[in-house]
Amino acid sequence: MNSEPTILQNTYKQAAAQRAVDFIQSGMKVGLGTGSTALFATRRLAELLRAGQVRDLAAFATSKTTDAIARQLGIPMLSDDLAVTLDLTIDGADEVDPQWNLIKGGGGALLREKIVAQASAREIIVVDETKLSPRLGTRFAVPVEVLPFGWRSQARFLETLGATYTIRQNPDGARFITDSGNLILDCHFGPLADARALADALAARAGIVEHGLFIGLVTDLIVAGADGVHWQTR
Ligand code: A5P
Repeated sequence: MNSEPTILQNTYKQAAAQRAVDFIQSGMKVGLGTGSTALFATRRLAELLRAGQVRDLAAFATSKTTDAIARQLGIPMLSDDLAVTLDLTIDGADEVDPQWNLIKGGGGALLREKIVAQASAREIIVVDETKLSPRLGTRFAVPVEVLPFGWRSQARFLETLGATYTIRQNPDGARFITDSGNLILDCHFGPLADARALADALAARAGIVEHGLFIGLVTDLIVAGADGVHWQTR
């Protein structure tokens, strides 16, 4: 899980998120990310809609939490079968490597976040500078979402890949259950020599529903830090 951000870090998160919202235009279908950074974007979008600066927009959320907040803010939402391609999605990340591969899932929404990323023409990732890392796994564990059925077998498999794991828990000590009813194993591998190979190995295992390695999905990266807000695209 994510640790509490500092006030300065929050300022950077907000700056990065607001820059991303500049890319939203009237008529778009927009994916809404999960986590504290993406929430700044959702709130900003709601402001623009209320002010009439953006019109005819429909959004799609990456988690039940984001969906509830967006509806509360009055953002029109698409139905959950996602019948259209999204023009862009704005989401956060836990760790970003120099190739813009990511670790995501600190908020437990990795499955829906990846579904939405793959359904988006543009995946805009917004982070404060503390998320940048020379190698995935340096700062953050890889969240692995597993089906409760037979999950200890997946845990043993993850150990054979070199992980030590912890079962994600809520603050009250109960097991964290994802929006799709699964468990999350936070897997500490250390800095990953080959994130893509690990992603492939995890994807090939039955019972692993999804993992938090996002390889080659990012089209735009917005990083905010002490020297301002920087947007790059490819
Ligand atoms: C949610 O599951 C995550 O992927 C978040 O996008 C990620 O944890 C970033 O969170 P913050 O924006 O709160 O740092």
